[in-house]
Amino acid sequence: MTYGFETLAIHAGQKPEPRTGAVVPPIFQTSTYAQDGVGAPREGYEYSRSGNPTRDALQQCLAALEAGHTALAFASGLAAEDTLLRTVCQPGDHVVIPDDAYGGTYRLFARVAQRWGVSWTAAKVSDVDAVRAAIEPGRTKLVWLETPTNPLLGIADIAALATVAHDAGARLVVDNTFASPYLQQPLVLGADVVVHSTTKYVGGHSDVVGGALVTADAELGAELAYHQNAMGAINGPFDAWLTLRGVKTLGVRMDRHCDNAERVAEFLTRHKAVAQVLYPGLPDHPGHETAAKQMRRFGGMVSFRATGGEAHAVEICNRTKVFVLAESLGGVESLIEHPGRMTHASAAGSPLEVPADLVRLSVGIETVDDLLADLAQALG
Ligand SMILES: Cc1ncc(COP(=O)(O)O)c(C=O)c1O
Repeated sequence: MTYGFETLAIHAGQKPEPRTGAVVPPIFQTSTYAQDGVGAPREGYEYSRSGNPTRDALQQCLAALEAGHTALAFASGLAAEDTLLRTVCQPGDHVVIPDDAYGGTYRLFARVAQRWGVSWTAAKVSDVDAVRAAIEPGRTKLVWLETPTNPLLGIADIAALATVAHDAGARLVVDNTFASPYLQQPLVLGADVVVHSTTKYVGGHSDVVGGALVTADAELGAELAYHQNAMGAINGPFDAWLTLRGVKTLGVRMDRHCDNAERVAEFLTRHKAVAQVLYPGLPDHPGHETAAKQMRRFGGMVSFRATGGEAHAVEICNRTKVFVLAESLGGVESLIEHPGRMTHASAAGSPLEVPADLVRLSVGIETVDDLLADLAQALG
């Protein structure tokens, strides 16, 4: 029997606990487990880096939500990315990365992986031909996408790029953090691995840092699990419990994020202080049609460019009262930031540098009229 998304979010991996019937999976805050005899651990649990029932519950739920076979929960999104990179790549290999991506992802490839002999090329992922041209057949092991991209909200065609990657013998990785599995399921569209910063929409309450990898390929899932244990960047039991608590409401939260973001984007398009609004839900966004094809709705992230340049963008960020000036995204509260000086500062001077007049909004689920009034006063 197949269940709908919201049913899976609430029940997958979360059967009542067998001893007491506790409806919510308990926090198994333990490092180790008593064994019934040498070589006879109970239900395979021997040490919490290798396995923990609270983490398992989250992993099973995430696998179900992304229509995958294996999900693994990590200490952060970047820990998940690093584990994937070191499982699949060796010195001499090459990866294609987006020319618009989270600054920390860029830093991982350009400042860390490169030192270990993994080279990279940045490509415009909204342009299928540009990605194909960036691939070095035989050397390219991964084609890495974000869609929507952070922070310019570009859209990549997942199904088309899966074919391009596979034709060249590479795997397609999709960072699904901005969309969440409620809005987009990359594995169903042909991707090999989904990456999440569960810190964002999946957790949803800005109270926990975490990451995940999900794959439909059982063999690759086993290799990733081996490396997760060997490298050790696991999600702790309390963090897994908090994330699982957040994930139960992902569907209803995302619908409200989308409702509010659509109103905010529409409001910004009419404002004199705004030069350009970047939101894939707007019909004139270059990726609108592709987004409509592969996403349920268009998400809660909206970026815009201020008419008065960098100083103006910074001033707007400093002036909001309901939108909190902070890094991160995807929580119930609205956030505002200046990517050039905050989340994407590490990409300065690189092909991934972001425009200085850019403001990024993570539109929360507050009363939308309060959000519009706050932006109106901050824009002046
Ligand atoms: C799209 C995207 N991917 C990955 C990450 C990294 O995740 P974390 O901060 O949980 O390590 C972030 C963080 O902002 C992000 O926005």
